[in-house]
Amino acid sequence: MPRFSKAVASLRSSEIRDLMTLASRPDIISFAGGMPGNELFPVHEIEELYRSLDIKQKQAAFQYGPTPGLPSLLESLAGFLEKKGLPVKENRLLITTGSQQALNVLAKAFIDPAEPVLVENPCFIGALSAFRSYEAELRGVPVDRDGISIDALCREIERKDRAKLLYITPYFHNPAGLLYTIERKQQLIALLQGTNIPLIEDDAYADLYFFEEDLERLRPIKAMNPDGINVCYTGSFSKILGPGLRLGWMLVPEKIYGKCELIKQSADACSPSFTQVLADAFIRSGQIYSYVASVRQEYKKRATAMVSALREHLPDYVQWNEPRGGFYIWLTLPDEADATQIMTLAIEGGAVFVAGKTFDPAGKQNNSLRLSYCNNTPEQIGEGIPIVAGAIRNICG
Ligand SMILES: Cc1ncc(COP(=O)(O)O)c(C=O)c1O
Repeated sequence: MPRFSKAVASLRSSEIRDLMTLASRPDIISFAGGMPGNELFPVHEIEELYRSLDIKQKQAAFQYGPTPGLPSLLESLAGFLEKKGLPVKENRLLITTGSQQALNVLAKAFIDPAEPVLVENPCFIGALSAFRSYEAELRGVPVDRDGISIDALCREIERKDRAKLLYITPYFHNPAGLLYTIERKQQLIALLQGTNIPLIEDDAYADLYFFEEDLERLRPIKAMNPDGINVCYTGSFSKILGPGLRLGWMLVPEKIYGKCELIKQSADACSPSFTQVLADAFIRSGQIYSYVASVRQEYKKRATAMVSALREHLPDYVQWNEPRGGFYIWLTLPDEADATQIMTLAIEGGAVFVAGKTFDPAGKQNNSLRLSYCNNTPEQIGEGIPIVAGAIRNICG
C-alpha cells in the first residue's frame, strides 16, 4: 500500500462523485446534482462572442496568463461586482479555478492540522472537503430559517480554543436553501468584530434571486464593509454562465491576498485563459445581465413546480423551505428518519436526491434531504416528487 500523507488519509471517498454517477443514469429523475440545466447554457451567444474576438485576443486565450487573472477580466469583473456595492477598490480581486479553488486556497492560507473551523450545519460539501483536506477540526453551528444560530455561534466564540475561521453561505444556502435576514447578518457582524476570526462569505447563488424585493437582503456582508472583520468574499461564474468554464473569484483584503496569490501560483499557475477571455467578453457585451435575468425566471418556474408538487404530495410532518432563489429545497423529517433508506427506495422508484448526512460536518445527522430543482423541467419535477414523497411515507409512515 502506498504511504499517503496524513492530510489525504483523512479524506473520505467522495459522496458527490457517487451521487453524480447515479444522477447520470438516464432512467432516473435526479434531484441530486446542483448543476444548471444543460439546455440553459448560452451556447450560441458564446460562439458569437468567440467569433467576434480579434486574432490577438484569440491567441491570448491559448496562452498562460498572470496568476491573479487576465487584466481585462479583472477589470470587467470589478465593474460587475461594484454594481453589487462590493468594495473592489479597497480590496484585491483574484480569479480562481472555480470558487471551489477559492475555498481551497483560503483553507490552505488559514488552517493548520487539528485547528477548529466553524461551519454551518448543514454545510456545502465542497467547503467541508476543502477544510478536511487541511485536517481542520470541523465545528458545525446550526442554522434556522433566518441564518446561522447566533446563540450557538456565541458559545463557539467564547470557547478558550476559539475557532480559526468561519465559513457561511448566506444567499440561497446550499443545501438548506435559506436566505439570511439583514438582522441576522448584523448580529453576526457584531459578534465577530474584534475576534480576529476571518469570515469566508460564499456567494455562489445570490444572482439567482426570484424576488426583486429581496435585493436589500442580498447585499453582501463584504459590501457592508464592517470594521474589524477580515471578510473573504467568494463568487463564481458557474451558476451565471457555466461550471465548465471553471472560473470563480475571491475579493479579499490586501494582507490576505498576497498569501492567496502565492498559494494559487503553486496550485495551477493561472486559471484557464481560454474561459477567462470568454467570461470577459460575456460581461463586456452586457449579455451577462440579460442571460442571468432569463435563467432566474426559468429557475423560478422550476422552483414553483417543485413547491406545488411538494404541497400536494408530502406528508404534513415534513418541514421544508419555500425557496426565494438558488437551486435547493431542504426537507427535514422526523428525528428518527433515515434519509439513506428513503433514498434507496426512491432510486428503486426512479428518483434520486442527496441524503442529509452528506452535509453534516460530523457526517451523522440524516433526518433531512436536499432536493435540487435546477436541472429538471416542471414535467420531470411533477413526475419525480411523488416518487420521493412515496418513499418518505413508506419509511416514516
Ligand atoms: C455554495 C457553493 N459554493 C461554491 C461552489 C463551487 O462552485 P464552483 O467551484 O463551480 O465555482 C458551489 C457549487 O455548487 C456551491 O454550491
